[in-house]
Amino acid sequence: MKAIVIENYGGPEVLQLTQVATPTITSPSQVLVKVRATSINPLDYQVRRGDYSSVFDLPIITGHDISGDVIAVGEAVEKWQPGDKVYYSPRFGSSGSYAEYHLTDESSLSRMPDNVSYEEAAAIPLIGGTVWEMLVVRAQLKKGDSVLILGGAGGVGTLAIQVAKSLGAFVYTTGQSVLHEKLQNLGADVVIDHHKQNYIEMIQAHTKGNGVDVIIDTVGGSTLSDSPLALANYGRIVTLVDITQSQNLIHAWEKNATYHFVFTRQSRDELHHITQLIEAGDVKPVIDSIYAFEDIKSAHQRIEDVKRNRPLFGKIILSL
Ligand SMILES: NC(=O)c1ccc[n+]([C@@H]2O[C@H](COP(=O)([O-])OP(=O)(O)OC[C@H]3O[C@@H](n4cnc5c(N)ncnc54)[C@H](OP(=O)(O)O)[C@@H]3O)[C@@H](O)[C@H]2O)c1
Repeated sequence: MKAIVIENYGGPEVLQLTQVATPTITSPSQVLVKVRATSINPLDYQVRRGDYSSVFDLPIITGHDISGDVIAVGEAVEKWQPGDKVYYSPRFGSSGSYAEYHLTDESSLSRMPDNVSYEEAAAIPLIGGTVWEMLVVRAQLKKGDSVLILGGAGGVGTLAIQVAKSLGAFVYTTGQSVLHEKLQNLGADVVIDHHKQNYIEMIQAHTKGNGVDVIIDTVGGSTLSDSPLALANYGRIVTLVDITQSQNLIHAWEKNATYHFVFTRQSRDELHHITQLIEAGDVKPVIDSIYAFEDIKSAHQRIEDVKRNRPLFGKIILSL
């Protein structure tokens, strides 16, 4: 089968399209899936450049989202059969989605929503579970709460805005001016241009100094130390980003803030909530661009390029 293999850590040039053996079922609970689409996550380029070298042995096939068709099932598999459309995130640390076929345990699989394409479905699994974990499990966001989503135009942000809105929250987000209308169409009530405005001052002004109930951080940097200045008393901050720099948390203490740190390893149990929202029409996958499988290097360049001509909006998809 075709696969994109990483033999050495480095830039996009280390992503090599090559032929490898097609996996076969070797245990009763396994399922073989024909991958129809996958997506690019920041985690993919972090793996590619060696940030997780202690977890993986080279060579690696990376990739963390799959939509596709069940091709074959092990003898103990009862829930799935050939022809079923599924979507899921491969378990972190195992062989990934940048391949024509993927072998997994049946416990990984979720039924693909029936009203989306393979490309749309591939935009969801990793971020879907992550967004549900952040907003519902950790922040316990509820109707009437206010939430600030930092990084609204990214993969996580575009989904988080829609899910927060469907939960009945008032949504603030950050994004470049050129994307404001698109972000409002997703459900953002107030959009702040992080290239031109200071989000803390803007939130203070909009909330009359009260701050927001929840802050969702998809950006990192100094957010953990600064964002409490935009938070209400007893507010919650949920971050996805592994920040290695030391942080002064004095403002969090002043606000009686609660921090939550999220690292999604696999998210099947939470994905079905997103499936329901998609099938109800409350959430739509947002696709920035679709690349052919063979164009993997360009797809990685697009997600990593900090000086893009056209700003990123949603997910980058690879179609097989
Ligand atoms: N822990 C976990 O389980 C988990 C799961 C998923 C993702 N993540 C992490 O979460 C982060 C976001 O993921 P993603 O998939 O959404 O990434 P993405 O699709 O690359 O989007 C990143 C977004 O952040 C925006 N941004 C960058 N700097 C900003 C700033 N200073 N202020 C406001 N917005 C800014 C970018 O806007 P511009 O175009 O204006 O730069 C872009 O829209 C990544 O670091 C990823 O590794 C973690």
